[in-house]
Amino acid sequence: MTNRKRILSGMRPTGKLHLGHLVGALNNWVKLQDDYQCFYMIADWHALMSEYEDPKDMQIFSYEVAKDFIASGLDPNRCTIFIQSQVPQHLELAMILSDLTPLAWVERCPTYKEQLRELKGREITTYGFLGYPVLQAADIALYKANAVPVGVDQLPHLELTREIVRRFNSLYKKNVFPEPEPILTSTPKLLGLDNRKMSKSYGNFIALSDTPETIEKKVSQMITDPERIHVKDKGHPSICTVFNYLSNFGGGAVSRETKSLCESASIGCTACKKNLAKMLIENLAPIREKRAHLTDLKIKEILKEGAKEAIDFASRTMDEVKGIVGLPR
Ligand code: TRP
Repeated sequence: MTNRKRILSGMRPTGKLHLGHLVGALNNWVKLQDDYQCFYMIADWHALMSEYEDPKDMQIFSYEVAKDFIASGLDPNRCTIFIQSQVPQHLELAMILSDLTPLAWVERCPTYKEQLRELKGREITTYGFLGYPVLQAADIALYKANAVPVGVDQLPHLELTREIVRRFNSLYKKNVFPEPEPILTSTPKLLGLDNRKMSKSYGNFIALSDTPETIEKKVSQMITDPERIHVKDKGHPSICTVFNYLSNFGGGAVSRETKSLCESASIGCTACKKNLAKMLIENLAPIREKRAHLTDLKIKEILKEGAKEAIDFASRTMDEVKGIVGLPR
């Protein structure tokens, strides 16, 4: 047993992970491994809520995401990596929490309305999808997590989790679940290659597993400063996506140098893109190499071991919870 505080976080297996996941979450998850007891989950039940009409790739994506996790620096010896559906206790706790969650709380959840708008073409006005944040609350509460490293987009879910566990604790007059705190990254949000929100459906991202050739090609097609037409025009780095990426990955010195070169029209967009492609290829090289050595067999072994560790913790929580709500153990 360990006295460290606990963390749970998760990602849905709807495709390979990209730079946004790395900068917005994974790098942070890696750092937290030593200070907390960490549970990192591949949320396939959550993915199924929106992908149920065509779920054939979901299992492959789960393994791909696990590879991305490990290649990015999550270490199965220092954290628990598992697939949500392999730990049945998530659904057990979700059922109990759904009994005590007022309908109005899930109906007014801003992410719910947003997803209904964004995921056009998917039939997600379903019973299951409405319960998305309740399952997420169960994910977190099952491990009595004290903190959840997430992006700002997930804050409404975390707030709802806090309300749900508060309701559980006060209903049964027992302090079973801690109210989890968010841990946000300090890195500014990375936009998509076309300056829109980075999103799987727009296809405007660089995947962690992209080859150097693909990276070069994608970077060469990136949108720069729309007001800069000729090389002799002075550029506006603040509205240039390539500059945004260069600062993110190159740090302060690169950012300052590029800014002054661009603003004085001393560097052209093509040269900037070349610099960026080189930088990204170098940055992603260790991930790509590590990934190449991870076989499906190895990944399945790691996930099986992870599920065992997760079940070990989760089943103890469920024993306690079932006792409290009067179910046989
Ligand atoms: N909803 C999260 C997302 O879309 C994924 C998720 C599921 C999660 N369960 C979680 C995140 C628990 C944090 C904690 O990214």
